[in-house]
Amino acid sequence: MRFDTLIINANLATMNEEFGFGRGTAYGAVANAALGIVDGKIAWIGSMAELSTHHADERIDACGGWLTPALLDCHTHLVYAGNRSDEFEMRLTGVDYTTIAKNGGGILSTVRATRQASFEQLYEQSLPRFLALVNQGVATIEIKSGYGLDLDSERKMLQVAKKLGEDYGISVQKTYLAAHALPPEYQGDADAYIEKVCQWLPILHAEGLVDAVDAFCEKIAFTIEQVARVFKVAQSLNLPVKLHAEQLSDMGGSGLVASFRGLSADHIEYLSSGDIVKMAAADTVAVLLPTAFYCLRETKVPPIDELRSHAVKMAVSTDCNPGTSPSVSLMLAMNMACTLFRLTPEEALAGTTIHAACALGLPNKGKLAVGCDADLAIWQIDRPADLSYLIGQNVLKQLIIAGKSRH
Ligand code: NIG
Ligand code: FE
Repeated sequence: MRFDTLIINANLATMNEEFGFGRGTAYGAVANAALGIVDGKIAWIGSMAELSTHHADERIDACGGWLTPALLDCHTHLVYAGNRSDEFEMRLTGVDYTTIAKNGGGILSTVRATRQASFEQLYEQSLPRFLALVNQGVATIEIKSGYGLDLDSERKMLQVAKKLGEDYGISVQKTYLAAHALPPEYQGDADAYIEKVCQWLPILHAEGLVDAVDAFCEKIAFTIEQVARVFKVAQSLNLPVKLHAEQLSDMGGSGLVASFRGLSADHIEYLSSGDIVKMAAADTVAVLLPTAFYCLRETKVPPIDELRSHAVKMAVSTDCNPGTSPSVSLMLAMNMACTLFRLTPEEALAGTTIHAACALGLPNKGKLAVGCDADLAIWQIDRPADLSYLIGQNVLKQLIIAGKSRH
């Protein structure tokens, strides 16, 4: 056997059914193992004992650490300008998120700052958030627009997202979220704004700036009918859809996204039983955003047991954004998914690997399997549960992206 890179002395959390993940072997674990890489892809997986004569250009000794798929953050708004800690202070005096939004704060406050920022300023302000995720083992990041709300500003956000990915060799999935809030120039005429959102989508798609389409279905945002209009345009362009759904109330958005065979319904604290059945049938992933739940002091927990019993895949993400989740820690989101939502640490790791990959429509990522992308993380931990247990400790030893070491 010949490898470009061979990782030895690792314990693997494969998150792969072939190694028993989901079928009785926690994490699809393989102890005392090795993994070979050829041309940026995983070429061989097995125990050290099975490793026969081979040649490797590069050898990485994991020294008994754990090797997992690199993490994927499948829901972020990390490209934005400005700062909303003033709203944090207001919320602490008892003013709620909806009231702040209705008074021109919230998303619209970030829209003002993002519109004003130049491309360079936006890039510069977003970069530390982007790198903080990468430095914690994240090799795929979904980034949404949605703080521009006009064609040029939405384009600027998506271009910044694209450039961040290109400059740092990170897989960035760009999501068009122009239907995030009603901009001031369309106050009182949401339908006219949705018409614009539908017109801009093919333009930005033709520029190579859109991988998926999202919207915010909520009383303070858009109705199910308005979201459906945007989704129909996405469908005509063969773009997958996802939705901010059931975050503050049950609008039936998750059922809508399932009816489009969408990738994911995200937030879903107020998800109904009927929509869980629809999501299960459409294989739509439930994206859990516990940091936003925590920051808003939400008390309604997503229906985890029911999602489990219908075998709906659950992903976990930071929701990194300036208002409801000023966090750049995917490990903290995993911890909160366990502590606040009672996920098991195994479910939380699946939520940031294999199920996050499903939520992004990337079947070649998120698991250790021959033929998959060699996006890997080596951790200095005793057990994979440590990734959900530890708070604020960076235990990443090495990040490997498409077979190449980042450090
Ligand atoms: O995912 N729910 C809507 N969008 C974001 C919040 C955006 C903001 O407050 O800036 C979210 O929570
Ligand atoms: Fe969000």
